Amino acid sequence: MAVFAKNCPDIEFEVVDINQDRINAWNSDDLGQLPVFEPGLSEIIDLVRGKNLTFSTNVHDSIKKADMIFISVNTPIKRKGIGAGETSDLRWVESCARQISEIAQEHTIVVEKSTLPVKTAQTIKDILFSTDCLSEDTKFSVLSNPEFLAEGTAIRDLEVPDRVLIGGDDIEAMNSLKNLYLNWIPEKKLIFTNLWSSELSKLTANAFLAQRISSINSISAICEATGADVSEVADAIGKDSRIGSKFLKSGPGFGGSCFKKDILNLVYLAKYYGLYEVADYWRSVVEINHWQQKRIYEIIVKKLFGNLADKKIAILGFAFKKDTNDTRESPSIEICKNLLNEGAFLSIHDVKVTKEVIEKNLLDTNSYFLDNPKLNKPRWEFQSDLYKSIKNSDAVILLTEWEIYENINWVWVSSNVKKPFWIFDTRLIVKDKKIKELGMNLWQLGNSNSKVN
Ligand code: UGA
Repeated sequence: MAVFAKNCPDIEFEVVDINQDRINAWNSDDLGQLPVFEPGLSEIIDLVRGKNLTFSTNVHDSIKKADMIFISVNTPIKRKGIGAGETSDLRWVESCARQISEIAQEHTIVVEKSTLPVKTAQTIKDILFSTDCLSEDTKFSVLSNPEFLAEGTAIRDLEVPDRVLIGGDDIEAMNSLKNLYLNWIPEKKLIFTNLWSSELSKLTANAFLAQRISSINSISAICEATGADVSEVADAIGKDSRIGSKFLKSGPGFGGSCFKKDILNLVYLAKYYGLYEVADYWRSVVEINHWQQKRIYEIIVKKLFGNLADKKIAILGFAFKKDTNDTRESPSIEICKNLLNEGAFLSIHDVKVTKEVIEKNLLDTNSYFLDNPKLNKPRWEFQSDLYKSIKNSDAVILLTEWEIYENINWVWVSSNVKKPFWIFDTRLIVKDKKIKELGMNLWQLGNSNSKVN
C-alpha cells in the first residue's frame, strides 16, 4: 500500500489492523522500528505516511468509507481437522469477509491480495451476499489480484513488476483496479483473467519457482558424487534461453512463508479432485527440499567425526534469505534443531534477525534440553559480532547469503579457531582460494571436492 500511495497521490490509502502494537510500530517516529525490514520501504513510508497513507485500528470506519478493500491477512497452513498440514487456514479471510458484509455501504470492490486456495473467491462472495443486513443499494464485486513480490526486492518488484494479474467477472470493477495500477505500470503488463485462473496462477508460479530450486538441489547431490560442479551445471543449462538462468542457485532449500504452503495447497487441490499422481508430483518438490536440509546436517555430523557433543559451531545466517528479517520456514531452523539435538553448542549470528525471534524458532529444542537435567545449560547463544561467533569454534556453517559473509577475513579465522576446522558453505559464497593453505577444510554444496566418503 505504501507503493500504491506513492504512485497514486490523489487516492487515500488506509491500512487497518486489529493488532494495536503492530499499528503503533507502523506509526513509529523511528523508521528503524517498522515491523518489516525491507530495503527502500522506510523511505517511502516517510514520504507518504500522514499524507495519503494512514495506519490505524479503526477497522469499522475504514470499511464503511472504502470504495475498494484489499484483504491482506495471514493464510497459514491449517493445523487441525480436514486438510490439516496441506490446505490454508481461512479463518481470518472469512472474518474479514463477514465484517465487510456487515459494514460496507454502496458499491464496494473486494480484492483478494492474500494468497489463497483456488475457489476462495467463491467463499468470499457467498459470505458477502449472505448477510441479513444487506440493504438494496449495497453491492459487492470480488476480484483476485495476487501479489508476486519477493522479500528483499519487494519495492522494486512492485514498482517494476513483470506483470499484474487481475482476475474477476465484473469488467467495471476490474477496470477500476486496473486504473489504479495504470498510474505507474504500462498497460501491456496488466493481465485480465477469470477468477479461478488468477488464483491458480499465483499457486502455480510459486510451485514452478520452488520446483526449479528442488531440481537444482537434487542435482547438487549428484555433483558431489560424480565430480561435477553445481554452479557450472547451473550456468551451462541457464544459458539455454528456454530454461533461463534465474532461480537455479543451489542452497539449503527454499524457505519463506509461501513456497511450501502454496505447493501443499496445490497438493490438496489435486487430491480433492482425485488427481493423485499430480498431487504426488508436487509433493516431491517439498520432500526434496526437506531432504536437502537433512542431507546437509548429516554431512556436517559425518565430517565432524560423528560427534558434536560440546563442539562450538558458528551459524552464519538465520533469515530464509538475505535482505530480510523473516525466518518463516528458514532452512536454518531445521538444521540448527538437528545440530542442537546432537549436543552441539551453536553461536548464531544474523544481520537482521533478533535473538527473540531465533529463540521462538528454537523453543521446542530448548525445552528438550531443559527437560534433560544433565544438559541443563544454554545450548546456543546469539552473537551480534560475527567474529565473536566464529572465535574458538570447531566449524562455521554459512546458511544465509548475507553480503558480509562473502568478505570474511579467513586469515584471522584460521588463527582463532580450533583445529581441525571446517567451513560448511551451503550458499556457495566462499571464494577464497587459500582456505586449504590456511589449514582449514572447506565443504561446498554441489562441489565434487566436497565428496563425503
Ligand atoms: C517468493 C516468490 O519469489 C515471489 O514471486 C512471491 O510473490 C512470494 O514468494 C510470495 O508468494 O509471497 P520470497 O519467498 O520472498 O518470494 O523469496 P524468493 O526470492 O522466492 O526465495 C525463496 C527461497 O528460495 C529462499 O529461501 C531463497 O534462498 C531460495 N532460493 C531462491 C534458492 O535456494 N535458489 C534460488 O535460485 C532462488
